Amino acid sequence: MTFKVALSFEDGVTRFINCGPTETVADASYKARINIPLDCRDGACGTCKSLCESGTFDGGDYIDDALTDDEADAGYCLPCQMVPQSDLVVQIPTTSDVAKTAAAAHPATVTSVERLAEGAFALTVELDDRAALAFLPGQYVNIAVPGTDQTRSYSFSTGADANHLSFLIKYAAGGAMSEYLAQHCAVGDRLELTGPMGSFFLRESERPLLLLAGGTGLAPVLSILETLAAAGTSGRPIHLIYGTSLDTDVVYTDLLDEYTTRMPGMTWDLVVSDPDTVHPNSGYVTGLITPEHLHDGTADIYLCGPPPMVEAVRGHLDAEGLQVTHFYYEKFTPATTPATTETAATESPTEMADTATASPEATATETTETNTVAEPEPAAVEGGDVVVVPDEGESSPAATVPPAASTAAASRTSHVARPAGVTTLISRRPGDPLAAIEARPDGYTAPAPGLFPAATTAEPPAGIAARPDGYVTPAPGLFPAASGAPAEPPAAIGARPDGYTPPPVTLPPGATTTTPTPFSETVTSGPGVVSGEIHPAISHSDAQFDARMALELGAVELTMGKLDRAQLDEFRMLAESANQYVDGDRFLDPAQFTAANAQFHEFLFRCTGNDALLQAYRMLEVTQVMNSVLPDARWVSEDIVPEHLEIVEAFESADRDAARYLIRRHTAHAKATMRTAMDRQVVGAAS
Ligand code: FES
Repeated sequence: MTFKVALSFEDGVTRFINCGPTETVADASYKARINIPLDCRDGACGTCKSLCESGTFDGGDYIDDALTDDEADAGYCLPCQMVPQSDLVVQIPTTSDVAKTAAAAHPATVTSVERLAEGAFALTVELDDRAALAFLPGQYVNIAVPGTDQTRSYSFSTGADANHLSFLIKYAAGGAMSEYLAQHCAVGDRLELTGPMGSFFLRESERPLLLLAGGTGLAPVLSILETLAAAGTSGRPIHLIYGTSLDTDVVYTDLLDEYTTRMPGMTWDLVVSDPDTVHPNSGYVTGLITPEHLHDGTADIYLCGPPPMVEAVRGHLDAEGLQVTHFYYEKFTPATTPATTETAATESPTEMADTATASPEATATETTETNTVAEPEPAAVEGGDVVVVPDEGESSPAATVPPAASTAAASRTSHVARPAGVTTLISRRPGDPLAAIEARPDGYTAPAPGLFPAATTAEPPAGIAARPDGYVTPAPGLFPAASGAPAEPPAAIGARPDGYTPPPVTLPPGATTTTPTPFSETVTSGPGVVSGEIHPAISHSDAQFDARMALELGAVELTMGKLDRAQLDEFRMLAESANQYVDGDRFLDPAQFTAANAQFHEFLFRCTGNDALLQAYRMLEVTQVMNSVLPDARWVSEDIVPEHLEIVEAFESADRDAARYLIRRHTAHAKATMRTAMDRQVVGAAS
């Protein structure tokens, strides 16, 4: 038995290899003449370290220097050691050019060409060797336009297992592919496909799905839906919002209805931006997105459409405060100067690369192709089908060069903004002490539940030990200043010269006043196409937990020693309620834990009787961030559970210092749990 392994390169090229049941991915790659990064081939150097996005495998033997447990837990692997136990998708941290491979060419024959609507064609082909072209649902190929020197990029609209492969192609008058389809294409025509390409593909997951398609950007969504339907979903919530500019652009409504029958959890809406539409919804895709579609931040979003639509959706989610867990998008950039045979032959790959990075405004004035589908205003595009993946007018630079040259250009123009999780992998093993824990006071021993040590016997926590020498805790209500003679002004203030004006605050070099984005984004761009992934950012998560800690420390001051027996019992009950969803360092039910944990942490704020503080706590996004990040998490700091009880014990023994220390420590463990989960999800590992 062999398994299919998709090697996904940084430039969007994907190569599939067959891997035997005892064969390593590295050996199978070598046999396929694909040079993935290798050095020792022995699990010692870490040179081959890659990310497995889906599938199961035996990781083989290796040393910790090559791959830490945290990295392995986050989905990283060593291809020189890993042996597949299922089909795999592996992100290789280099370009296809460096790996001395390229997207393969696949000859095909046209079996059908149909004008589905005024603005869209369906093209179906049969490959000479269907088995030679494997792809992931959502990916695309480049198709050479017969009789020209141009190629166009089109997403598959059929599932990955279909015998005949179809494409949904927007008609743009004057476009090379459009005119070929409208005037010349006939059954039996020969075509050449090159690919597969793209990092916009369906990830393994059981999370709810929100699919957004603009115009013929419906194509990759259809491929995703067909794959899901063929695999069978048991009520997985799936909602599609399909937007077009005009009624005459609407296609495949019967097919979409059919998918709702095949997948009971699926629903879909159509929206047409033309105000005169005969359909119920007039407007844009964003107008139909509701919080319910996000399922409390646990839904995955897949969006394929023109750049303005992608940005409009992102802006809408942000403006509405809608939480996003995994947001995958693909947009095609406007066309560049169409190459003639001569220019294609004489332009260097570097020149092509430069062209590929030119701004839309610049390129729009250079090309008649682009003029046929001038970039619309965002308001007109949102939800429209003016520029989408299989869009003739959205021809990419790849469309202006022969397949081989386009591949070379792709490898030179692509870049991947690696997420923090890739370059700054945490080196701590799950369960190992955290840096913050090193601040435990010497001799501190976590008490057994119900036996929290009295403050008089425990060493003061490090932060508390920083009190000034001679400081004596004042009796409540008797701050030591009223000793008779007026107090001397503090030295620092007294030393100010008359007329002193504080200098303006200057930021240290490199500091920025920019508010950290709550999301991290990974972008892969090739000629004419930009794919991206957006996930919650670690910095945003940390900020939420730090803010919670600051408020909790304030709540301690207002509640310590004031909780009665019934309140203490309720506090303990809430701690135990949250703890039941964790077993050691494993989540049993992250979603239930998140809900119960929120109740536990809110309790103190309710006890303060201070509504302003309670509202400040409720304004935090701790729960939303946890809902976004934890549904797929397995690891949780093993200190979380005992700390819940220890905090309760601190209140039972009216030990303010212990409570403050535990809340700070608990925050560090909570942040570590989130970081581990986000390291895993940021890179897209959904298994
Ligand atoms: Fe050295 Fe894989 S090549 S660990």
